[in-house]
Amino acid sequence: MQLNWLITKIDSDTATGATIVAFEDNNLVGTLTMSLAEPAGFVRSLFVAEAARGKGVGRRLLSRALQICHAGGRTGLALSVKDTNTVAQQLYTSFDFVPYARGNEGYTNYIHLFR
Ligand SMILES: CC(C)(COP(=O)(O)OP(=O)(O)OC[C@H]1O[C@@H](n2cnc3c(N)ncnc32)[C@H](O)[C@@H]1OP(=O)(O)O)[C@@H](O)C(=O)NCCC(=O)NCCS
Repeated sequence: MQLNWLITKIDSDTATGATIVAFEDNNLVGTLTMSLAEPAGFVRSLFVAEAARGKGVGRRLLSRALQICHAGGRTGLALSVKDTNTVAQQLYTSFDFVPYARGNEGYTNYIHLFR
């Protein structure tokens, strides 16, 4: 899939967060928002438009988020995923995210550590 624009905005001067937005032609096909807390970043949301799923958009958004987080000197990137969301879990484990703690009810926290 050819993405026309992949826009990354680091929020404000303090670089406490980033929003990554993917467009195909003029259609918004995916977004990822994350906080860039110390010592690890945290993915707050990842969403791909239904019509664009299964074409690598989520993979590219997550890859970009990991690059930003690593370049910002964080030790890793964490996130929380619902236990029934096997599609997202497969995406995260393919990027070497590993479960490290139970989250809110029905959720598990995962982290990808930079080595
Ligand atoms: C989860 C989500 C972001 C994945 O985005 P996507 O662009 O469809 O994913 P990609 O095409 O980049 O696929 C990446 C990997 O996800 C997994 N995956 C994607 N679609 C899948 C499906 N239908 N069934 C099983 N695994 C799937 C695979 O591991 C895939 O890797 P592969 O292509 O090498 O097999 C998307 O399905 C989505 O927006 N879901 C609703 C919101 C959501 O659940 N967000 C995550 C909250 S934690």
